[in-house]
Amino acid sequence: MSTIVLAYSGGLDTSVLLKRLLLEGHEVVTMTADLGESDAQIGARAADEIAQVRAKALALGARQAHTIDARQRFVSEYVLPALAANARYEGVYPLSAALSRPLIAALLVETARAVKADAVAHGCTGKGNDQVRIELAVRALDTTLEVRAPLRQSPLSRPDAMAYAAEHGIPVSQSSSKPYSIDANLWGRSIEAGVLEDPWAAPPEDAFAWTAAPQNRPTLPSEIVVHFERGVPSVEAISGAALLAQLNVLAGSHGIGRIDLIEDRVIGVKSRELYEAPAATLLLLAHEALERLVLTRDELRFKAGVDRRYAELAYDGLWHSPLRSALDAFNGSFATRITGDVAMRLHQGSATVIGLRSPFALYDEHLATYGEGDRFDHHAADGFIRCYGLPFDRLAHLGIGTAQ
Ligand code: ARG
Repeated sequence: MSTIVLAYSGGLDTSVLLKRLLLEGHEVVTMTADLGESDAQIGARAADEIAQVRAKALALGARQAHTIDARQRFVSEYVLPALAANARYEGVYPLSAALSRPLIAALLVETARAVKADAVAHGCTGKGNDQVRIELAVRALDTTLEVRAPLRQSPLSRPDAMAYAAEHGIPVSQSSSKPYSIDANLWGRSIEAGVLEDPWAAPPEDAFAWTAAPQNRPTLPSEIVVHFERGVPSVEAISGAALLAQLNVLAGSHGIGRIDLIEDRVIGVKSRELYEAPAATLLLLAHEALERLVLTRDELRFKAGVDRRYAELAYDGLWHSPLRSALDAFNGSFATRITGDVAMRLHQGSATVIGLRSPFALYDEHLATYGEGDRFDHHAADGFIRCYGLPFDRLAHLGIGTAQ
């Protein structure tokens, strides 16, 4: 018999898991992290949702049930560095689930130390990315702690889980009968499985919970100004977790941030995933636009490759790799200049940047203008192009690379 800290969501799978571990004779302490998953739900946050998860764990027999409000930590330690890296996996997915797993792992480790547990456990299956992310992060933080993944050893089908729940008096919430697998936090919501497994099947409207359907979006646009101060966004002085919750609701009401992606999982399988990431979509767009105003051409070109690599590290479960910290330092070197305002218009499913200003803008109207006050030396371009094109003279002479 050992003491195990279980990452517990309150859902069907982890409830079955909790009961199983208890029946095997272990002492189980549950750990539930509040990462703001219900903050963006249309219809407002059920304030006592986390309290209910805790009560459920205790009712099922957990020795202790820890609930941790980790929203602010999630934003400052995971979301903001990812924003600085414009992190989108395969150019598209803002990494909501991927960024949360190393934090959940850290909370498991911290709880295990606090209650002197020998092991931590999670309910990930053997097919997903999350098992990789959690286990690599736990290992990076504590090499002595055992990690258990019981649902990888004996996978649990939905009907089996339902039958087990009925047999052991585990309450089954309405969401358990939903045909999708959902994961959500302040940075986005992911929806997979069920009918979505057919990549030809259009996403059904019932898969979405944070973004309004086309017919329910406001006919008039909303306009907001996102202010960045050393890379940290705010709107009307609201920042952090509160900002994300607010932007999810506002941008979600305009249907912004719906993503439909065939993605490449770490374990080598392609899967079809839907995401709703209203706040992330908006802030990534704003951040990239501001970067284009204040960073040099070379910085932007180089950073694009680095950003792609950053997203891959986060996705692949390598959050604790030294390369990731090195890239954080690289991104941090631009922080001072990531200061300014981005005006945005939100309307009918898209967010558009409509204005930019920054004390660090490299944009110079006197050089850019085609109108009055042009200070660009047009004659200089003549010599520039002649030198710049010199290699082509020689290549043409040799007949290389020229269309004949
Ligand atoms: N495919 C996404 C990712 O790997 C989402 C995973 C969501 N996790 C879940 N247990 N439903 O980041």
